[in-house]
Amino acid sequence: MIATADDIIGMRAAGKAAARLLNYLEQYIRPGTSTGQLDRAAAEWTSDAGAWSAPFGYSNGSKKPFPGHICTSINEMVCHGIPSDAVILKEGDIVNIDVTPVLNGYHGDTSRTFPVGKCSADSLRLIDVTEECLQIGVALAVEGEFLGTIGHAIELHAISRGYSIIREFTGHGIGRKFHTQPYVTHYGTPNTGIRLKAGMVFTIEPILCKGDPSIRFINEWEATLKSGGLTAQAEHTVLVGKDDAEILTYESSTASDN
Ligand code: MF3
Ligand code: CO
Ligand code: CO
Repeated sequence: MIATADDIIGMRAAGKAAARLLNYLEQYIRPGTSTGQLDRAAAEWTSDAGAWSAPFGYSNGSKKPFPGHICTSINEMVCHGIPSDAVILKEGDIVNIDVTPVLNGYHGDTSRTFPVGKCSADSLRLIDVTEECLQIGVALAVEGEFLGTIGHAIELHAISRGYSIIREFTGHGIGRKFHTQPYVTHYGTPNTGIRLKAGMVFTIEPILCKGDPSIRFINEWEATLKSGGLTAQAEHTVLVGKDDAEILTYESSTASDN
């Protein structure tokens, strides 16, 4: 789908809301906070912003409705972690927070992995390289580029830094719907797959780990790394342009810029 001028206005607003929500939640990330508390803070912020939470009650085909407003995935949890008062952040954890508010019918989808308190250098490096992989993908989201080229560049960077890509989860087209074509793999063959056109909007959301990237589902939603090692994810919603990509899930630091 190619976004119209109105769609772009709507997606910019939704993307900004998503970025703000994620930045807002950051203050609560410390040892002792439960992921249930993060979920309630997100629910409140979202309703105050006049938006609703796409994850809440979301059921992808056959799945049980997702019970949280956000996903909170700690350490070996690959993604789609279910917030709970029984899950408490502890010093040295890394936690991915994935938010998707819907504003005026448009979805903004973004996530980051945060260190909890003081983390090992290894954990921080995994987070940094994951963010680099995302940025490498974003830089290639321009008209004429191929999705296979984006996926290839992302995986190549991960491998060159000693990490693996978890292949079961992909980026996705997004707009009035949460998940649509094109599905954006974080691996691929250069110059293959869908060729990008200006106005396409999709997410890029690589998940990295060290070593064997095999996963196991522990319930209908939550996937964990079989090896028990750490995983990190980073995600943006991106608008393809003629000459450059626009990150929609970005909050400008200029106070006057609304
Ligand atoms: N935000 C996730 C994504 O990046 C999807 C979460 S679906 C949920 O696509 F139901 F688990 F919340
Ligand atoms: Co997504
Ligand atoms: Co997401």
